[in-house]
Amino acid sequence: MLETEICGIKFKNPVFLASGIMGETGSALKRIAKGGAGAVTTKSIGLNPNPGHRNPTIVEVYGGFLNAMGLPNPGIDEYLEEIKEVRAELNRMNVKIIGSVYGKNEEEFAEVAKRMEKYVDIIELNISCPHAKGYGATIGQNPELSYSVCKAVKKSVKVPVFAKLTPNVTDIIEIAQAVVDAGVDGLVAINTVRGMAIDIKAKKPILGNKFGGLSGKAIKPIGIKVVWDLYENFDVPIIGVGGIMNGEDAIEYMMAGASAVQIGSGVYYRGYDIFKKVCDEIIDFLKEENLTLKEIVGIAHE
Ligand code: DHB
Repeated sequence: MLETEICGIKFKNPVFLASGIMGETGSALKRIAKGGAGAVTTKSIGLNPNPGHRNPTIVEVYGGFLNAMGLPNPGIDEYLEEIKEVRAELNRMNVKIIGSVYGKNEEEFAEVAKRMEKYVDIIELNISCPHAKGYGATIGQNPELSYSVCKAVKKSVKVPVFAKLTPNVTDIIEIAQAVVDAGVDGLVAINTVRGMAIDIKAKKPILGNKFGGLSGKAIKPIGIKVVWDLYENFDVPIIGVGGIMNGEDAIEYMMAGASAVQIGSGVYYRGYDIFKKVCDEIIDFLKEENLTLKEIVGIAHE
């Protein structure tokens, strides 16, 4: 009932793991696949190993988490070993892999995407980390840079390319227009919302990086509005992400225009099998309303 096709790729369901959590190792991806996800998104991977920011890198706040990991990752060559280890098993489970890529500039983005493409079904461009200086933060806030990164990646790979957009801009449509003009096959929205928490006893920001990206329940209405606006303006598939905890949240994103959704923080609240739980909740709703998955995508616009 939840099978869906996006960019010619068949997914067993539209509930995916978001980039950033549980995507650092092959065994973590496998664990999420067993939890019922239709696809898993890797941690954002760069050309070279990156230790990330100093601790603390994550803090729980009202309505979610604030994190500034600093895009820690072992670099593309070592990371590919992780994917190779689990690719066959994920294939057997019919779970797709979305490879999240970041880079300092268009050449790095294109190079990492090219090395990754053989092992993934979709490339997701993280042009939108809210704080990693020189690693993409400014790219997703600038239409010209966003265009050239997406264009370079589109030239270097054959698999579908999705751009993940940051809400930390004045006009997200301007950025989306640039990446669509560059030929991306789809949009992922939203990345985290820039924020800060202060330890009032220590009298300083809690995170080692001082500020970070807010995820979780608090950002859901922001994500819904962005997906709504993207659906109104563009004719490419949208993957909705931001604050999805249950089937109702996922359906809300779909009604705004998302063909699939991604879950990150929700894993902390409902466990590794949140994917199966959310799928069951979507199925219950569809049965109750006598609707299909296809019918609810964008239904709120009609
Ligand atoms: C990080 C990257 C992101 O894209 C994000 O939204 C939050 C944190 C990071 O690795 O620090």
